[in-house]
Amino acid sequence: MRAVIFERCGDESVLAVKDVPKPACGPRELLVRVTSVSLNPVDYKLRQGMLRFLGRPRLPAITGKDFAGVVEFVGAEMRGYSVGDRVFGSVDSLTGAGACAEYLVITEDRVARTPDGVTDEQASCLCVAAGTALRGLESAGFAAGQSVLITGASGAVGAAAAQIAVRRGAKVTGVCGSNNVEYVRSLGVERVVDYKREDWAAIDSVYDIVFDAAASSSFAVARRRMTAKGVYVNTVPMPGVMLSSAWARVTSRQRCIAFMLDMSHALIEQLGALAREGVLVARVARTVDFEGVADAQRAMAEGKIYGKACVRPPSIASQQPQP
Ligand SMILES: NC(=O)c1ccc[n+]([C@@H]2O[C@H](COP(=O)([O-])OP(=O)(O)OC[C@H]3O[C@@H](n4cnc5c(N)ncnc54)[C@H](OP(=O)(O)O)[C@@H]3O)[C@@H](O)[C@H]2O)c1
Repeated sequence: MRAVIFERCGDESVLAVKDVPKPACGPRELLVRVTSVSLNPVDYKLRQGMLRFLGRPRLPAITGKDFAGVVEFVGAEMRGYSVGDRVFGSVDSLTGAGACAEYLVITEDRVARTPDGVTDEQASCLCVAAGTALRGLESAGFAAGQSVLITGASGAVGAAAAQIAVRRGAKVTGVCGSNNVEYVRSLGVERVVDYKREDWAAIDSVYDIVFDAAASSSFAVARRRMTAKGVYVNTVPMPGVMLSSAWARVTSRQRCIAFMLDMSHALIEQLGALAREGVLVARVARTVDFEGVADAQRAMAEGKIYGKACVRPPSIASQQPQP
């Protein structure tokens, strides 16, 4: 089968489209024919070898985590799925497996059925980004009616967080760049701050939660815009954020969370339900074929893609199958 692989870590030039063996399906796995993939920053960070705290992927590795597809074969001990079922999920990339392939195998904790009414492309956009939004808000004790400031509200994580928070009746301020102000306003937020023109840390409001989806700030800065028991969530758990988290625990009633997503079947099902209800709608900025993955990852790393970059495997016709 064709796949987008890298044999060593490095810049996007290490990516190549090659023939690799079709994966063998274990007893507690599904073999899935991939119909859509969405790229995430973690894909290029892993390929670059940047995420030492997560570990390095086993090489050679297939790039990409989030996928949608159709069940081709059901492992002997796998219950609840049939050949032909539409599914979506997220691959454990550290194993060297990946989503940018014609086929993948997936364990039951990393997959769920794609709900009727949700396209494969939309389903493939859910797991890492919207999962981080949902669990990240939950980690901060998010409740209806709270005030929430979201950085990176034009990005995949931030926009999903805004969609969830707005739907649950929060008062939301979204922070984004000038090109995306109208998009973020369209998510239903009360206020939009263009970070290129205004410093959100200097505005005249305080928030129950500062969700730093862009990981562009710090607890020290954000706490000035937080209520007495406010919570700061950073999506990139670097040592400085972890230090702030420990320091806040002993010195303050405010909290700092270094968030790391834990994928599960229950989470994937929840995300599917939110997409079916129309709460989560991903903005797909571009769709590429396997040859376009390197360029899309470079553009994403340079902040030049507003929304999700999706990938369509060669075996999928130009028309996305609709549910
Ligand atoms: N910990 C975890 O488990 C986990 C899971 C998922 C993602 N993440 C991390 O979360 C981050 C966001 O992911 P994503 O998929 O949402 O990425 P994305 O779609 O590329 O979005 C990036 C966002 O950052 C904003 N931004 C860029 N520079 C900024 C600046 N100087 N100040 C404020 N905002 C700025 C962009 O705004 P404009 O485009 O409007 O300028 C955009 O909204 C990434 O670092 C990713 O690795 C972590």
